Amino acid sequence: MTETLLRGRILSFHRAPSDGVDTGAYTYIEDGALLLNDGMIVQRGTFDEVARVAPGVPVTDHRPHLLMAGFIDTHIHFPQVQVIASWGAQLLDWLNSYTFPEETRFADEAHATRMATAFMDQLVAHGTTSAVAFCSVHSTSVDAYFTEATRRNMRMLGGKVLMDRNAPDGLRDTPQSGYDDSAALIGKWHGKRRCDYVISPRFAITSTPEQMEMAQALAQENPTCPIQTHLSENRDEIAYTLELYPQARDYLDVYQSYGLLRGNSLLGHAIHLEPREVDVLAETGAHPVFCPTSNLFLGSGLFDHGGLSARGISSGIATDVGAGTSYSMLQTLNEGYKVLQLQGQALHPFQAFDWATRGNAEVLGLADRIGTLEPGTEADIVVLNACATGAMALRMERAETLAEELFILQVMGDDRAVEEVYVAGQASKTVSASSARVAAA
Ligand code: GUN
Ligand code: ZN
Repeated sequence: MTETLLRGRILSFHRAPSDGVDTGAYTYIEDGALLLNDGMIVQRGTFDEVARVAPGVPVTDHRPHLLMAGFIDTHIHFPQVQVIASWGAQLLDWLNSYTFPEETRFADEAHATRMATAFMDQLVAHGTTSAVAFCSVHSTSVDAYFTEATRRNMRMLGGKVLMDRNAPDGLRDTPQSGYDDSAALIGKWHGKRRCDYVISPRFAITSTPEQMEMAQALAQENPTCPIQTHLSENRDEIAYTLELYPQARDYLDVYQSYGLLRGNSLLGHAIHLEPREVDVLAETGAHPVFCPTSNLFLGSGLFDHGGLSARGISSGIATDVGAGTSYSMLQTLNEGYKVLQLQGQALHPFQAFDWATRGNAEVLGLADRIGTLEPGTEADIVVLNACATGAMALRMERAETLAEELFILQVMGDDRAVEEVYVAGQASKTVSASSARVAAA
């Protein structure tokens, strides 16, 4: 039960800002403080207020930096840490040429363990304190992932991909083994410490109808487990899906007909949607997930955030490493801004930072635990420095408002702008950076 007090400029969102002048959507405290105890935020206020109720508690002074809720990445592939930046292919060729061969290596426990450490080091270095990951088809990869998350006390979600066709040897399960392995992993990890298991049929192309039935059974038996998959990322993917599922009215109908759409379903990409699919997203409360760096990298297309929001559909935003090109949620917001610009849609920096924190937490049904700096929530915190590089410092000389500072962070920032990261109240960036130096020595 060790208390700590963090001092800095505090920014936390209560709801999605409707525009750049919606000051009621957030709390900003210029000389603020957070009192942390036992991994939780217990008090928030001005430094004077909080220091008065916590005399003698050690203070870490982060002024003039910003304290915000740690970033949340709602779609990322743990076994793709060594796939990121693979040249020249669009989705289906990229999967077959680079991704599937790499994922076969995660059957090996030692490899999966080493990659889990490296993966979470990267997340923390970039200010991401929670993520929703696809692991490989192998239970070993899930065990490595949640073991490492537990060691760090990180709130992490993930699951083994179900895939029983259109993948190489060593990367396929069967409907029964996929069900059995997932059920065993749910029993072992779901709701344990800060871990949640996510039922993960990879996408329609790599699952037979028999496997989709098993995914449906898992989903029905485990209503508190989120579900994640991929939807309408690429035109060739859609055409092949409709060949494999000839009765389906459209791509989303595959998932709909197997009962996989509900309020805790996450559908990566969701770019090329038919009007009926948009209606179904709105009716079921399933969440599309926007992956801008990936969509640009694979040439997949432009996510229609404005159109979906207008229908009351709330989307996540995510890196999608390794088709995504950066672990940084700042860079993800940067590319997201550009994708929306291409469609005449404006993403204000207040909306962007709300999205990567509270908004993503809400999509995961976890906004009462993470994503804000509200007292009573978990102490996952990022410390951001908008003058982290020479170029940023130069630009900051002319910044007059908080919105301008946020936009500079969003457009120019990456892991260098992340000064410190607290995971359940523990300073973790400086710690993992020094262990990486030791490991490299
Ligand atoms: N669709 C099915 N699997 C994947 C994957 O690993 N990455 C991306 N971007 N799309 C997918
Ligand atoms: Zn993905």
